[in-house]
Order: sequence, then C-alpha cells, then structure tokens
Amino acid sequence: MTAKKIETALVTAGRKPRFTQGSVNPVIQRASSLTFDTVKAKKFATANRAKGELFYGRRGTLTHFSFQDAMAELEGGVGCSLYPCGAAAVTNAILAFVASGDHILMTGAAYEPTQDFCNKILSKLGVATTYYDPLIGAGIAELIQPNTKVLFLESPSSITMEVQDVPAMVKAARAVNPDIVIMIDNTWAAGILFKALDYDVDISIQAGTKYIIGHSDAMLGTAVSNARCWDQLRENSYLMGQMVDADTAYNGSRGLRTLGVRLKQHEISSIAIAEWLAARPEVERVNHPALPSCKGHEFFQRDFSGSCGLFSFVLKARLTNEQVAHYLDHFEHFSMAYSWGGFESLILANQPEELNEIRPAAKVDFTGTLVRVHIGFENIDDLIADLEAGFARLK
Ligand SMILES: Cc1ncc(COP(=O)(O)O)c(C=O)c1O
Repeated sequence: MTAKKIETALVTAGRKPRFTQGSVNPVIQRASSLTFDTVKAKKFATANRAKGELFYGRRGTLTHFSFQDAMAELEGGVGCSLYPCGAAAVTNAILAFVASGDHILMTGAAYEPTQDFCNKILSKLGVATTYYDPLIGAGIAELIQPNTKVLFLESPSSITMEVQDVPAMVKAARAVNPDIVIMIDNTWAAGILFKALDYDVDISIQAGTKYIIGHSDAMLGTAVSNARCWDQLRENSYLMGQMVDADTAYNGSRGLRTLGVRLKQHEISSIAIAEWLAARPEVERVNHPALPSCKGHEFFQRDFSGSCGLFSFVLKARLTNEQVAHYLDHFEHFSMAYSWGGFESLILANQPEELNEIRPAAKVDFTGTLVRVHIGFENIDDLIADLEAGFARLK
C-alpha cells in the first residue's frame, strides 16, 4: 500500500474501531474513574497504563487515545501528550528534560510567554537560558555548552516571522551533542505544513488552540514525540498533572477532519492579501513566509508544504500611538485579539521599540510600525477593502 497523503490521513487518523465503536467519530468517554471487573484486569491496566489501556482519567480515555493516536500519525511520532493550552505544552516539554544546573538554547524571537517562562521560572529552578538569533543556522553549534540539554526552535518566529534553517541547526547541534533534545513550537505549520520529526527534531509542539481547534472556542496543547524522547515526555507530563477533558480532546479530533481544507483557504487568502499589501506605498516589507521579502523564505520554500493565515507587515511610518489606535479601532472585518488560527480575521500592531524589548537576540531592523494579521475565511475583496480603508485613515 502506498503511504497515505496528508489530506487522507487527516480524515482517517485516530478512527480505529476501538475508538469509534461503530460511529464515524470517536466516542466521547468522560471519566475520572475507570472501573475494573477483576483484580487481574486492574493489574493488567496498571501495568499497561502508558500503552493505551484504560486506567484512570488523568491518563486519558478512548477519546483522548484516539486524538493522541491521530496526532502521532500525522506528525510522524510515536506518541502525543495533551495539555490544557499551548503554553503548558511548551513549558512541560522543556521541564521534562532539564534539571538544576542545566542550560537551554531558546530562539530570541520566541512567543513572548515562552521567553517569560525561561526568564521567570527556569531561572528560579537554576536552569540558564541563552537566546539566539533565529537566523543563526549552523552557528548554533558554537552556543552549545557541556550542560546544554535543550535546543528550542520556533519557526516561523512569532510576530516577525523569520523562518529558521531547521535542518542546518539540527545537524550542527547533533554534531556537537547527539543527545541534545531538540524541540520546536510548530504551531504556525499546524504540525503538518512542516513535518519537524522528519528533520530529526525530537518533539513538535503546538498550541492546538489555533488551527487544530480552528474555531477560537477552546484551549489545547499538543506535543508529539519521537521514540527517543517519548517515555520521558509522557511520564513527566503525567506527573505534572497535564491532561485535557474528553470534550476538548474530541474537539481536537474534530478539528483535524477539516484542517487540510481550512489551511488551504487560509493560504490562498493570506497570500493574495500579502501580495496586495506588498504593492502598497505605505508598506515597507511583508513578512509572509511564502513571499521572498520574508527572512528565511528560502527555507520555507525548501522545507514547508504550504502556509497558513498568519503573517505581518511593516509600515514605512512609525505611527504615533494615537494613530495606531485610530487605525485599529475602526476595522470592520478584522478584530483585535491575541490569538489566531480561527475562521475569523484578526489584527494587532507592535511598535519597533516594543519588539526590541521582547527580542533579546533578534533586534528588529526596521523603524516603522509592525502590523500582524490573521486572514480568516471572509471574502478576500471585503478584507482588502477593509485594509484599504485602514490606510486611508492614516492619511
Ligand atoms: C506560537 C505560539 N505558541 C504558543 C502559544 C500559546 O498557546 P496557548 O494560548 O494555547 O497557551 C501561542 C499563543 O498565541 C502562540 O502564538
């Protein structure tokens, strides 16, 4: 049999008869207590609690197992830990592999709360962080110390969207220390547009809150691991009490079924709008990985199978804070929200000095105001008209 294409896998993954019990979708099994008929059955469940036997709610039910099975298949791993949000997935993945006295390498353009976790929590535990330029490539090797346990990637970067040369970084890091644990925040690629584990990354993390859930109505985190790191990630996350309720796991599975077609529409609409923006006189640069103006575009072309709806652009002007408010307050179709990945369009702005503050190793090289948009499923012409009216407000 030929390997399933991703569109097919999104439809079929996790739908084993044990999980669906005769229906199309997995059953929703809500449980804390899972009961055993005999002492023998209880012993068996206990011995196999990490291998998909029903044991206790915190280890999951058939609903969770189905979603975890699907995620592992889709991202090419052996297992998937679930978390109540993306931030919990990031922090627990890191915590699973560090101890006091260790050191980690973190991209300097990571999602801000990820950096805050390093600065405020890891530091307290005696784990040091070095931030690196997201475009460092093979130069990462020089930053590896004898106690460096984790190399953390995020590609494209939050807000400024630099695409990392992951294969070069992985190769260089493993040449210095084959055992270094390499993990990536792979949320932008929804775990499937960039197949991180195929590039010898150990753990692919997602804020499932974004594209997997896809409807802006639930929080979820996932971490898919290869065989080398799975036991440690799974057991550590379990001990930290990380789990989601069955309904959220079900909604994760449900989101997978339409993820492929949703991403395709996000891609079509976001590229059309990015190209329209690139031709505007007000715009200095468009940071959409699929456009040559985005840093690391060549790595995107080489390593990704597509793009999603999230990108940013830099204005030639640095707007005053009053202008920013006037610009953002009056969009018809773009709402302001910190999240992204749903069916709706969103917009936020950052001043360059604000970005410099949250980018210790990736100082910004522009002076204009940055605008980040998430392009949803509204009609493209309506969105362009809205953006055009926004530029008119700046005159
Ligand atoms: C790249 C990235 N990683 C992680 C997170 C955290 O996800 P959550 O909000 O589900 O904790 C976010 C949220 O915006 C994000 O953008």
